[in-house]
Amino acid sequence: MAEALPTFSDLAELAEAVKGCTRCRLAQGRTNAVPGEGAPDAAVMFIGEGPGYHEDQQGRPFVGAAGQLLDELIEGIGLRRREVFIANVLKCRPPENRDPAPDEAEACRPYLDRQIELIDPKVIVLLGRHALQAHFSDAQISRARGVPRRRDGRTFLPVYHPAAALRQLRLRDVLRSDFALIPKLLEGPAPAAEPAEPESQQLSMFG
Ligand code: URA
Repeated sequence: MAEALPTFSDLAELAEAVKGCTRCRLAQGRTNAVPGEGAPDAAVMFIGEGPGYHEDQQGRPFVGAAGQLLDELIEGIGLRRREVFIANVLKCRPPENRDPAPDEAEACRPYLDRQIELIDPKVIVLLGRHALQAHFSDAQISRARGVPRRRDGRTFLPVYHPAAALRQLRLRDVLRSDFALIPKLLEGPAPAAEPAEPESQQLSMFG
C-alpha cells in the first residue's frame, strides 16, 4: 500500500507536491512532472494515461499530437481547453512511453483522487483503457466506450484514447460521436441517487 498523502487544500498545493514527488521510480527519469491543468471548477474533467515526450518536456498534459486531437475534439463540442481540466493516471512519463506499471499507478492514485474531489466535475471522461481500468478494473474499452456510467455519485464517460485515433483513422469518427455525448450529460439533470447494490451502473439515457 502506498503511503498516504497529506490532504491538499487546493490544486496549486497538490501540483507543487507532484512536482517534487518521489513516490515511485518514475521520478528518476522525468524532466518535469505533469500534474494536470485547467479550470479548478471545471464541469468536465479528462483523464489520460500519462505524459509522453512533449508533456515531460513542458510539464503540461496533452501538448503533443494526441493533445492536438484532444483540443479539436473539445472545441468540436463547443468547449475551450481552459474551461475543462486535463489530468492523467500517471503524473510522470514512463520510459519509452511504456504502459503504467500497477505500482506506479497506485503510488500516483491519491493525487488523481484528490484532484477529482477538489474539482468535483459533473462528467469525468476516461481517455483510453488505462484511465478506464483505473476506475473500472474489469471493463474493456472497446465495449465500454460511449456508454456513460455512474459510480460513487459521479458520471464517467469512457472513450478511446486520442492517440489510438492517430493510429487508426476510423476511430476519429467514433471519438467525435462519443464526445457529442458530453454536452448532453452536462445538460441533463444529475442522475438520481444510485442503487445500493450494483457497484457501477451504466446510464440508460443513451441506450
Ligand atoms: N497521452 C496521455 O495519456 N496523456 C498525456 O498527457 C499525453 C498523451
